[in-house]
Amino acid sequence: MSTPQNNVAAVDHVMNSRMSARAFTQQPVSRALIEEILQVASRAPSGTNTQPWKVYVLQGPSRDSLVEKVCAAHEAMSHNPELAKNYQEQYDYYPAKWVSPFIDRRRENGWGLYGLLGIGKGDKEKMHLQHQRNFKFFDAPVGLMFTVDPVMGRGSMFDYGMFVQNIMLAARARGLHTCPQAAWNHFHSIILPHIGAGEGEMLVCGMALGYADESDKVNTFVTPRVPVSEFTHWVA
Ligand SMILES: Cc1cc2nc3c(=O)[nH]c(=O)nc-3n(C[C@H](O)[C@H](O)[C@H](O)COP(=O)(O)O)c2cc1C
Repeated sequence: MSTPQNNVAAVDHVMNSRMSARAFTQQPVSRALIEEILQVASRAPSGTNTQPWKVYVLQGPSRDSLVEKVCAAHEAMSHNPELAKNYQEQYDYYPAKWVSPFIDRRRENGWGLYGLLGIGKGDKEKMHLQHQRNFKFFDAPVGLMFTVDPVMGRGSMFDYGMFVQNIMLAARARGLHTCPQAAWNHFHSIILPHIGAGEGEMLVCGMALGYADESDKVNTFVTPRVPVSEFTHWVA
């Protein structure tokens, strides 16, 4: 299939305008639109076409009651840090030991966001509340949960990333925004039974989906990228 040249600008615009939105309006998203996004996203490649993804869509009461349950657990954990041991992720999304340059980028990202929101280094309560926005899907009307069968290998997580990115781009092309969320992973013991996931499914991440609240300054946060010349090695 040929690629018409005039698609370049459209595809680049979709990729460049994707950002992690952290405030959404209440504008509803129809089931037909969500289905359309998932359908086109499912064109993502996967090793030997295994398509390891499974998506749970939460809206209305199923979304609201999950938000209530996880916010309560997160709140309890903030009062009693001992409880954190009950909420371990099923897989290591982040390294156990952080090293440069990754830790530096992580810090830059965190303080950049908090700085924009006027949250100072010692302001634990404000940090907690901002973190808890994750567990409200940043007010987005649609929450997505992604699971995988852990029998699949590490390569399936690679496939999964392509699928999740496709969703974000398909959403953007239709005027919606997203925020991929690993924050939910700690609460798989609450989430998996809530969504009706089968025994042994592993939570990959969550995602907020909806229309970004353009008036909220959190959505003006622009993240930098390492230049091509720094991460590319032209092998002679
Ligand atoms: C798999 C994945 C999980 C993420 N988890 C969270 C999260 O839990 N909460 C959050 O606010 N942002 C989360 N992010 C967003 C990243 O912080 C964001 O992608 C990064 O800072 C680059 O910014 P951008 O997405 O606006 O380009 C996640 C991103 C990815 C890809």
